[in-house]
Amino acid sequence: MRHVISVHDFSVEEIVEVLDRAEDMVRIAQGQATSDLLRGRVLACIFFEPSTRTRLSFETAMNRLGGGVIGFAGTEATSVVKGETLADTIRMVSGYADAVVLRHPREGAAKLATEFSSVPVINAGDGAGQHPTQTMLDLFTIRTETGRLEGLNISMVGDLRYGRTVHSLAIALAKFGNTINLVSPEGLEMPSEVTSYLRNMGMLGVACHSPEEVISNTDILYATRIQKERFPDLVEYEKVAGLYRVDPDLLSRGPEGMIVMHPLPRVNEITPEVDAMPQAKYFVQAFNGVPVRMALLSMVIGGK
Ligand code: NCD
Repeated sequence: MRHVISVHDFSVEEIVEVLDRAEDMVRIAQGQATSDLLRGRVLACIFFEPSTRTRLSFETAMNRLGGGVIGFAGTEATSVVKGETLADTIRMVSGYADAVVLRHPREGAAKLATEFSSVPVINAGDGAGQHPTQTMLDLFTIRTETGRLEGLNISMVGDLRYGRTVHSLAIALAKFGNTINLVSPEGLEMPSEVTSYLRNMGMLGVACHSPEEVISNTDILYATRIQKERFPDLVEYEKVAGLYRVDPDLLSRGPEGMIVMHPLPRVNEITPEVDAMPQAKYFVQAFNGVPVRMALLSMVIGGK
């Protein structure tokens, strides 16, 4: 039984296998071919936190492979409001489905769920912890858009403290031999476990507070949202909200061929004028969630 909890659990070879398989899934993801690979199988998507892309792309992935989906988006209509524990919810749901996709506000929730689940658990985001399936689709996007997955300079910009997507992605990119620059407001720096990992791998680039400092040496600008919901004090949020803005002026100072990614949702981090520029890859990145999650589901549920 293969759980998908953290990028630490995946070797470079295993990640490449997911990406290769995702490439084979693209035509099915686009609706240009059909598949019944997972016919008769059921996926549970249980989301204790808001989501648009992650949940819908998992559901689409399962539907496109001929499987079925159960689950909930928000706990209002579930027994969680009656006080049911995560352990009991997982015990029960894992009896109804062949895999469980879990998003939860608490860091470590997905790992905990594996103790109670009789089927594979896929971490769709655990608080400020990790978001490994987002990382796979980010890597897929980087590979398809730049043609490679090593020797790149990636500048992560924004809330590196609470942003789970960058925690997972930084670790994975370092494994592949890419240099990571870390740009955050003061107080929202990358957690020390991740920074130490990058340093030990020899893949830590510049850590600073201004995108201007790294832009000329950036192949991929990875912008992120300030994670308002994780701030203990909203006054602190107000101080940093809107501090960074990716706009045509900033991009004009980047090298030829630079691309801009963002896990979305964006709030004000990227101005709408950027959307029509060739650097903008965040919507294709969001689409890539479908073939990549199809690949993962086929491996986790299909057992192949
Ligand atoms: C991210 C998340 O939920 O961590 N969204 C996503 O899954 N694409 C990023 C965010 O919420 O800012």
